[in-house]
Amino acid sequence: MVSVVIGTQWGDEGKGKVVDLLSKNANFVVRFHGGNNAGHTVIVDGKKYPFHLIPSGILHPKAIGVIANGVILDPEVLVSEIEMLKEAGMKLKGKLFISERCHLILPYHKALDLAYENARGKKKLGTTGRGIGPTLADKVSYNGIRIYELLDWKLFVEKFTFQTKIKNRILKTFAVKPINAKKELEKLSAFRKILLPFVADTYLFLNEALETSKNILMEGAHGVMLDTDFSPYPFSTGSNVITGAVNTGAGIPLQKISEVIGVVKAYTSRVGGGPIPTEIFDKTADAIREKGKEFGTTTGRPRRIGWLDLEAVKFACEVSGVTEIAITKIDILSGLEKIKVCIGYKLNGKSVSYSSCGYQELAKLKPVYKKLSGWKKEIAGITKFSELPKNCQSYIRFMEKFLGVKISIISTGPERKEYIKI
Ligand code: GDP
Ligand code: IMO
Ligand code: MG
Repeated sequence: MVSVVIGTQWGDEGKGKVVDLLSKNANFVVRFHGGNNAGHTVIVDGKKYPFHLIPSGILHPKAIGVIANGVILDPEVLVSEIEMLKEAGMKLKGKLFISERCHLILPYHKALDLAYENARGKKKLGTTGRGIGPTLADKVSYNGIRIYELLDWKLFVEKFTFQTKIKNRILKTFAVKPINAKKELEKLSAFRKILLPFVADTYLFLNEALETSKNILMEGAHGVMLDTDFSPYPFSTGSNVITGAVNTGAGIPLQKISEVIGVVKAYTSRVGGGPIPTEIFDKTADAIREKGKEFGTTTGRPRRIGWLDLEAVKFACEVSGVTEIAITKIDILSGLEKIKVCIGYKLNGKSVSYSSCGYQELAKLKPVYKKLSGWKKEIAGITKFSELPKNCQSYIRFMEKFLGVKISIISTGPERKEYIKI
């Protein structure tokens, strides 16, 4: 059984929480794309685990964490996450595996990411600054360095020194301090020692897991509205986010997928630049941001807020083949008198679809809203659908009908136990 969890909006939908919930019976939990620009939060008995690379389901005793070939990773971030789990008492031997095909995010990638952003000035994209774009650019231009090279230290030193030389030439044109290869190599050598015991042929044993009918949970990162092809590019991340990335990023054939769970936050949030058709700037936005603690898990930046955009989410569900929906953060909307939901777009008086719009159109269009009545009662922690206020139930049913996909999980708080299964 292969289940896939996909973010259907602009990221931070609560994928970490949902993956943790669904991992109870998983044998393997797999990250298959993106990098440590992701920040997935799991909260168990009051303890918070912010994951950037290690799959969020690893906290379950039976679940083995896999970082598959499609992930790009910063060794320093991965080492600090390993330390976090060790400090929490977890034994990671035989519990975490990392593909040798993963490309490395190296210090010059981070420097280039920031240099490009600074050069863009007022038009900056608002990347996470984690070196994602430059690392993926190196991957496709054959300048990348993988864990594969890290296994052979001499080879790694040669490649890293060569790449640093090239990158320092570029950094010089931006008047950025050059990278000191020798100093960085010392740090990388220490990270290498910690990481090497976890390196494995993840394709081989995921394939074996398929043959022996194990439960595999694929943990998507980011959100479809950030997909490198289906976002309003360049307000994107560098990787494909849609379900197809399961195949390229872990070697799992798409016909092996049994279910795709789309995570939908009950409203919209986004960090970084680019158009958000339903963005709001008023007191309601501030209230949602504060109550929903909408500050980035990776960068701490305040997230921009908007009403739920069902036009965009419907597209995300279609393009990713979503078979079930998990709604999150519905508890944050309690207390609002009216709740708006976007059910379509109008551009110059004509109906347009999400997929036909680039960033210029998305910035100009007018959302068509349906206004629904809110509910007063706080619903945090509720575990039964029947205990939700009638207007909250109507909000959920409206979403389900519009999207034409069954809603099977409703998360009512950040803690593991705070959810409704329907
Ligand atoms: P991800 O990137 O999709 O995994 O989401 P993040 O972890 O970056 O952001 C989601 C935030 O909302 C985290 O702080 C979660 O602990 C929290 N969260 C998840 N589900 C719920 C929910 O149903 N209600 C509330 N109040 N918080 C939630
Ligand atoms: P999770 O997995 C929210 C956004 C950045 C920026 C754009 C490009 O936690 O949902 P990048 O550093 O990827 O080059 O930045 O993409 N972005 C995310 N926003 N959650 C994420 O991941 C994101 N991953 C990338 O904010 O706008
Ligand atoms: Mg996040």
